[in-house]
Amino acid sequence: MMKSFSYNANVASVALLLLLALMSTTSSAHLSSTFYNKACPNALATIRKSIRTAVSAERRMAASLVRLHFHDCFVQGCDASILLDDTATIIGEKNALPNLNSVRGYEVIDDAKAAVEKLCPGVVSCADIVAVAARDASVAVGGPSWAVKLGRRDSTTASKTLAESSLPSFLDNLESLTNRFAGLGLNVRDLVALSGAHSIGQAQCFTFRDRIYNKTSDIDANFASTRKSSCPAEANVGNANLAALDLVTPNQLDNNYYKNLIQKKGLLASDQVLYSGGSTDSIVSEYSSKPAKFIADFATAMIKMGNINPLTGSNGQIRRICSALNY
Ligand code: HEM
Ligand SMILES: *[C@@H]1O[C@H](CO)[C@@H](O)[C@H](O)[C@H]1NC(C)=O
Repeated sequence: MMKSFSYNANVASVALLLLLALMSTTSSAHLSSTFYNKACPNALATIRKSIRTAVSAERRMAASLVRLHFHDCFVQGCDASILLDDTATIIGEKNALPNLNSVRGYEVIDDAKAAVEKLCPGVVSCADIVAVAARDASVAVGGPSWAVKLGRRDSTTASKTLAESSLPSFLDNLESLTNRFAGLGLNVRDLVALSGAHSIGQAQCFTFRDRIYNKTSDIDANFASTRKSSCPAEANVGNANLAALDLVTPNQLDNNYYKNLIQKKGLLASDQVLYSGGSTDSIVSEYSSKPAKFIADFATAMIKMGNINPLTGSNGQIRRICSALNY
């Protein structure tokens, strides 16, 4: 009697454990930094080599690759939807207003993908390559490293409309930025930390023209006049002229971006709103005086951003070519 009771109890607890194990492996969004360790052990080293080569040829490419991951994740999740070219049936994201003539690095991802496909055909997703490239790009310009979570699959769809409605604008105020990030599970600290990516890379004149000519209170006068020299006031003249987002260390991913904001030398209106008397001022101050805190929070927030709505399990596909669906 006693014996059969304990036997039944053991069967019940084993069954419960099996059920729990099953539930945890089938739950969605289960990414892991060791995902390719068995299926493609040299994938990460191969991607890193491609990214290092690209960044040593052009330092700005590091910025472009970090931004590519951001513009992928904010639209349908981190699913490489941004990489799909237009076809008869797909109106892709490349031509969406925030991306057109602005997002760069597609060919760097294509090269990394080609190198990885040679090693392990059909194994490593484009979405994961974009995530790893962003990390390797950060490291290449003095920013933090982090263990990239892997196992994302590639979308079979893309959305120009969603790209135009989901990505933040340089004209957004603090409330609107906060709401956009919150909608994707990112809090205000994540917003401020991730905006630190504007410590590298460049912006076109049309994105900051209004700020340097029309704002007087929230901008340093000398900074504005320096920026005016390569960004004419006339609408549509010199629209694509470039300026560094961080005027001091434009090729170094560091906390100088926050020091700029405190001096009212943020380039975009959406940069300066993070330090203009609102609730995020204290976070900007903290990052400006504590570089290690910024570095740690940036890495954490990049991992968080990389977890937005991934396709896993049997959803999506592993594209063979990042710009097109498998046929
Ligand atoms: C908070 C809202 C944000 C807004 C409104 C915004 C807006 C912009 C704009 C307008 C540009 C210049 C594009 C051009 O002129 O072609 C830019 C560049 C850039 N953005 Fe953002 N951004 C935001 C957040 C982020 C985040 C979260 C990241 C990455 C984690 C990021 C990374 C970058 C980088 C690295 C560049 C330079 C790219 C290059 O030089 O190719 N941005 N951003
Ligand atoms: C300044 O603001 C006015 C009114 O909004 C606008 O018409 C003008 O184009 C702006 N000037 C620049 C240089 O952006």
